[in-house]
Amino acid sequence: MSDAVRLLREAALTRRNTFGVAATAPVLAEVADAARLDEVLRLPELQGGIALILGGGSNLLFAGDPAGPVLALTGERVQVLGERPDGDGAILRADAGVPWHGFVMRSLEAGYAGLENLALIPGTVGAAPIQNIGAYGVEVRDFVHAVEAYEPATATLHRFDAAACRFAYRDSLFKHAPDRYLVTAVEFALPRTPALKLDYAGLSEELAAMGVDAPTPRTVAEAVIAIRRRKLPDPAVLGNAGSFFKNPIVPRAQAEALLAEHAALPVFRGADEDSRKLSAGWLIDACGWKGYRDGDAGVAASHALVLVNHGQASGAQLLDLARRIADSVQARFGVAIEPEPRLIGARW
Ligand code: FAD
Ligand code: EPU
Repeated sequence: MSDAVRLLREAALTRRNTFGVAATAPVLAEVADAARLDEVLRLPELQGGIALILGGGSNLLFAGDPAGPVLALTGERVQVLGERPDGDGAILRADAGVPWHGFVMRSLEAGYAGLENLALIPGTVGAAPIQNIGAYGVEVRDFVHAVEAYEPATATLHRFDAAACRFAYRDSLFKHAPDRYLVTAVEFALPRTPALKLDYAGLSEELAAMGVDAPTPRTVAEAVIAIRRRKLPDPAVLGNAGSFFKNPIVPRAQAEALLAEHAALPVFRGADEDSRKLSAGWLIDACGWKGYRDGDAGVAASHALVLVNHGQASGAQLLDLARRIADSVQARFGVAIEPEPRLIGARW
């Protein structure tokens, strides 16, 4: 083939997932130029369909090998397309393979605001809309202008505007149809005028501790990075996929009943007035799991929501631990918690 397309057979995926668990793809196709997807998807090696679209592997658990070919989009072009509709800022387009954190820092350096609270999230631009990544009171949907996605079944390149993406907490249209759409690029509408969001617990305090009294998008990103480095294990040192469970959304009455019994339980607004989001980390912590270890599968000592691989844990062992954790939360609090990362080779 060419530099724009690379095919690897029996490709080891251990270094391509941040849990660092072993898995092998029968074929891995790396495609740098999305314009060649038509041609690539007709290759004999890729018949039978793509079993997994792989970004940085930071929101996946390989409980088994992918059942067929794996495809990664590796293009890393970033362009300014034009002005934002209201004249403040611009529309930036980034290829799916652009590393997310690098894109955030580059946008801030170029004088655009908005993505500062989303600094240091691992992974790629192409994966950002899949679960509508979020942190410190901001979700990527707040800045997505459009998502470009190729649909192999119809050989069509679609352009979804933000409303069509049906974003919600850790959710989107794409999340419900894994591998149906290959996100090839994302367009972001970024203002030049900052509208800082500093109300997430601990953020203002961090800025104050840094001696910052007039925060800017850059200093907010620095504060977010400092908090994240303290709380979350670095996957390069200790395998993990960030939060292993989503924060559960329950009916308001259930949240109120739980609060009456457990006054310290953090409860946040849900999608509407009748629902509430509970802290999965608190529920798991209260069940005594923080710092737990069984062989090489464990729970981070710094955060109960983060499952970790101390070295040689398999995906199946991590999944088994996750199930035990979820069962204990269900038994003690009557709340069902669900994994955030995509499970490959297993069902929840
Ligand atoms: P992958 O793990 O490779 O894939 C994730 C999903 O997206 C899979 O279903 C995959 O098939 C699909 N996908 C990937 N690329 C494409 C594409 N181009 N087209 C179509 N589908 C695609 N997430 C947050 O929301 N907030 C956080 O604060 C956060 N913190 C984290 C901290 C740590 C230490 C870690 C390890 C993870 C964290 N995450 C967080 C989770 C993760 O970083 C994000 O979900 C990220 O967007 C995943 O990107 P990825 O490229 O690694 O995707
Ligand atoms: N808590 C505990 N014990 C713990 C951890 C947390 O009691 O071990 C309680 C504390 O009360 C804490 C609260 O839980 O104040 C919330 O914790 P944190 O601020 O760390 O947020 P989170 O709800 O656990 C979510 C996202 C993270 C995101 C942070 C910051 C989900 C599933 N996770 O975590 O995203 O970075 O908020 O906004 O929504 C990810 O998705 O992978 C991820 C890391």
